[in-house]
Amino acid sequence: MNLHGIVVAAGRGERFGGPKAVVLLGGIPLWVRAVESLRQAGALTVTVVGAAPGGIPGGIRRRDSVAAGLAALPSDASHVLVHDAARPLASASLGRLVAARLQVGDVDGVVPGIPVADTLKQVEGARVVTTVSRSGLIAVQTPQGFVLDALREAHRADDSDATDDAQLVERNGGSVVFVPGETSNLKITRPEDLAIAEAWLP
Ligand code: CTP
Ligand code: MG
Repeated sequence: MNLHGIVVAAGRGERFGGPKAVVLLGGIPLWVRAVESLRQAGALTVTVVGAAPGGIPGGIRRRDSVAAGLAALPSDASHVLVHDAARPLASASLGRLVAARLQVGDVDGVVPGIPVADTLKQVEGARVVTTVSRSGLIAVQTPQGFVLDALREAHRADDSDATDDAQLVERNGGSVVFVPGETSNLKITRPEDLAIAEAWLP
């Protein structure tokens, strides 16, 4: 397995109030933390997409930024870990777990996921329409791991938007499995998330 990494850091951070990747957490930029976790998980190189120093230009949608990263990977890469710069607390062992499951060789993609704990309701404005069963639902994180050919083929086959990479592979008929995620692996989405991450720093 020739494993490489992509960190996407090109978002506009609209909900945060500005680009997040260069924000410091415990004195270290979010994107650096994301790169380090992939390196420690065994990625031979990590391609950074976005505003980070040395980053390559991203795209309008997250999937466009991932595509830019895919195009820039070393030619001998066979597998890839795709990770959000906005998830600075993912441990290296989570990346290793994803990579190890990928290495078994029977699936196209591996995602970290956590069973949903809250009760879910579908709403229209403030009105509750119905309660959605949470049975069989997981909340999905990054890093996500893929057979590179499968992810590239999924990108070629489908130009619609997706909030994660596995969605493209699923829609293209690929097989995706999940491994246990980490409750501490929060995504920095809004300003208050940074204080939570600060408190959770190992
Ligand atoms: N991302 C990216 N390119 C985009 C959109 C998102 O590289 N066009 C990256 C973000 O930098 C982030 C990750 O994808 O690391 C997850 O996206 P999200 O948390 O939604 O970040 P933003 O899109 O920046 O935030 P918002 O949706 O609030 O604007
Ligand atoms: Mg976004």
